[in-house]
Amino acid sequence: MSATATAESPSTSPGTPAEEAGLKPFNVTLLLRRYDPESGREAYWEDFDVDMYPTDRILDALHKIKWDQDGTLSFRRSCAHGICGSDAMRINGRNRLACKTLIKDLDITKPIYVEAIKGLPLEKDLIVDMEPFFAAYRAVNPFLVAGSTPEPGKERLQTIEDRERFDDTTKCILCAACTTSCPVFWTDGQYFGPAAIVNAHRFIFDSRDEGADVRLDILNDKEGVWRCRTTFNCTVACPRGIQVTKAIAEVKAAIRSGKTS
Ligand code: SF4
Ligand code: FES
Repeated sequence: MSATATAESPSTSPGTPAEEAGLKPFNVTLLLRRYDPESGREAYWEDFDVDMYPTDRILDALHKIKWDQDGTLSFRRSCAHGICGSDAMRINGRNRLACKTLIKDLDITKPIYVEAIKGLPLEKDLIVDMEPFFAAYRAVNPFLVAGSTPEPGKERLQTIEDRERFDDTTKCILCAACTTSCPVFWTDGQYFGPAAIVNAHRFIFDSRDEGADVRLDILNDKEGVWRCRTTFNCTVACPRGIQVTKAIAEVKAAIRSGKTS
């Protein structure tokens, strides 16, 4: 479960590995897209200067700003290690996880632009309403459907090759970086989006599952896989390196052929 950063969180204390290694911090300017629905004001850019080390991440910079400069800054994060998927945001125009984006990998001679992911309703600063995204995820039955029961004491067996068939799509952390980088999703929020298709793929190609036909039917919809225009934005955006466009193509092929193997 993700959390929204709070003003009470502890400030960065001296003695970080970078400080202990004798590294000197340098000044970085972040331009953050701010929005407060209660202010009546349109979203706007606000700049903040922070001292950072090359090995710090954008998430560290956001924490510094929140804890030391403006406690009202709102963003989601939880694990801080690329696992929970809660801190996807647009950094210099590209969807990334703030906790996986190192300052040293960005051009710090210019301000770093950070804004909320696109295509979902903006709630506050870097926080969007994820419900439409999760509704699409839930709609594809993202769970194992198996009517039969294994014999007592037995497991549902699967060969190594069968397991490999959907290995890539098991890596999804539901960060929404793919779906919210898709131009089709931006223009029409009805499209299921890449992440829902990836999670359908995870079970469609699982040899133990018996619900593939239903999922393929759901995705053979005018808002399903055929909306994909193969722009590869999703594949580029995925912080887990999932071949998202390939997974979508495999689901399209399964609908055409009626076969999943
Ligand atoms: S497929 Fe990749 S980008 Fe899309 S939700 Fe899953 S982890 Fe995030
Ligand atoms: S905070 Fe969990 S993925 Fe970044």
